[in-house]
Amino acid sequence: MAYYNIYPVLALYLSCFASLSSAQDLKLPLKSVNLGNWLVVEGWMKPSLFDEIPNKDLLDGTKVQLKSTKLQNYLAAENGGDSIVVINRTAASDWETFRLWRIDENSFNFRVSNKQFVGLSSEGTNRIVAMRDAPGDTETFLIVRKDGEPNRIRIQASNGLFLQAISDTILTADYGGSGWDDSDPSVFTMTIVGSLQGEYQIANGYGPDKAPQVLQDHRNSYITEEDFRFMSSNGLTAVRIPVGWWIACDPTPPKPFVGGSLQALDNAFTWAQKYGLKVIIDLHAVQASQNGMEHSATRDGYLEFGDSSIQDTVEVIDFLAERSNAFKFSHASVQYTHTHTLMKRDCNQQMCRYAKNPALGAIELINEPWAPLVTLDTLKNYYKAGYDAIRKYTSSAYVILSNRLGPADRKELLSFAQGLSKAVIDVHYYSLYSDMFNGFSVQQNIDFIYNQRGSDLAAVTTSDGPLTFVGEWVAEWAINGASMEDYHRFAKAQLDVYGRATFGWAYWSYKCQYNHWSLKWMIENNYIKLN
Ligand SMILES: *[C@@H]1O[C@H](CO)[C@@H](O)[C@H](O)[C@H]1NC(C)=O
Repeated sequence: MAYYNIYPVLALYLSCFASLSSAQDLKLPLKSVNLGNWLVVEGWMKPSLFDEIPNKDLLDGTKVQLKSTKLQNYLAAENGGDSIVVINRTAASDWETFRLWRIDENSFNFRVSNKQFVGLSSEGTNRIVAMRDAPGDTETFLIVRKDGEPNRIRIQASNGLFLQAISDTILTADYGGSGWDDSDPSVFTMTIVGSLQGEYQIANGYGPDKAPQVLQDHRNSYITEEDFRFMSSNGLTAVRIPVGWWIACDPTPPKPFVGGSLQALDNAFTWAQKYGLKVIIDLHAVQASQNGMEHSATRDGYLEFGDSSIQDTVEVIDFLAERSNAFKFSHASVQYTHTHTLMKRDCNQQMCRYAKNPALGAIELINEPWAPLVTLDTLKNYYKAGYDAIRKYTSSAYVILSNRLGPADRKELLSFAQGLSKAVIDVHYYSLYSDMFNGFSVQQNIDFIYNQRGSDLAAVTTSDGPLTFVGEWVAEWAINGASMEDYHRFAKAQLDVYGRATFGWAYWSYKCQYNHWSLKWMIENNYIKLN
């Protein structure tokens, strides 16, 4: 023992060395659960997290349509953008929909369907146009809401004057009056037709003064050591942990993101080791967004992940695999370089994470890339580079490749993955999100699992190919008021079928405001029994 006291670093080194082959201890197939809404926020799972945000219905990515009360027409970006803003539409669709970028609780940019921003014309005419690709002062507007009638608004431009509807085709920022009458040319009704509640929205909604505390409290309380004890004692063998790209910039990620998720992931590894669980790190949110969903931490719902995103994203994977001590994004569009002196100290104390941590089971390179906007070629290029990055540090951790969602061949990654050692294909099976399920009876739902999902899974589970993982599923369906026995049978059908996945499965999620989406609740209330 004296030896260890004198040479603590060497002791750690030796213990790491001894655990080099640890990922091979993995008992497959895994029975795991997603720690959703922990390190990547999804508001639908716990809406109260957003409660204290001022103007919380006007977060980044909120889609609004604006109608002039005087002209009784909607505003539209003519041609979808790169042109003037007109007021001659009697019905609203894409060109009449504006996505907010929140500057502060009252100030916003408006992004049009072709992605330009609404602003003052650069010709000095006070005309409102949608021409700029990046927002500046002249693209920033104050939304003034009427007391007691928050969707009746006036919009103040950067010149201090209000927008007014002069005619069907002339919208200007030159109105100095005030008033809320229908006949007032500066009054608009605002209809919210879509919104996002992801990590970007919560962080930017609370802003730099409040967001760090809110998110730290959430990360400290939402998942604790007690949860790992619960999971372990109730038959689970692993956790899939969604993380966002900003974890690689901890402790000071670019705004509005907030540091601290790395510490939480460290805690998860410590608890996983203590309770004998494996960790699957899942890069759920990548820069530029791979699916436009709030759980990708998108600002406004545009999917922009492409070839130019690959290098930065591989660096995040590289960081997660080894927690390298100097991290920087190399992509020119990202305006910062971050050297992690704090982390360096940390890493020296614990030389064996994450690649050599015995609790590491797998790293998933990206969650739910969306076809066709994320092309198969882009995805394969990324997967190859991400796989190589992980293999620099570990030959034993599994590398998980998520199938594309949307119109994609579910077998499209099989031949590619065949050339990789310890590769896993992730498929997500929900009996939701498609009209097909509306009107399904209980029995039809159960039959669908045994027949359709059974053959779907069999089609990707080949004897010489990658392993398979049902990385997300839930015992919830498009039926209201089903009995406990119905739910029990539905869950059992999925456990039977997804139990054939060679790598395993992961329930979505561990905790959620909706009981059936919470595996913790399902276990506590005897809907699901794993032991
Ligand atoms: C709206 O105004 C623009 C610009 O004058 C014109 O090109 C467009 O056809 C008009 N649309 C409708 C529906 O009136």
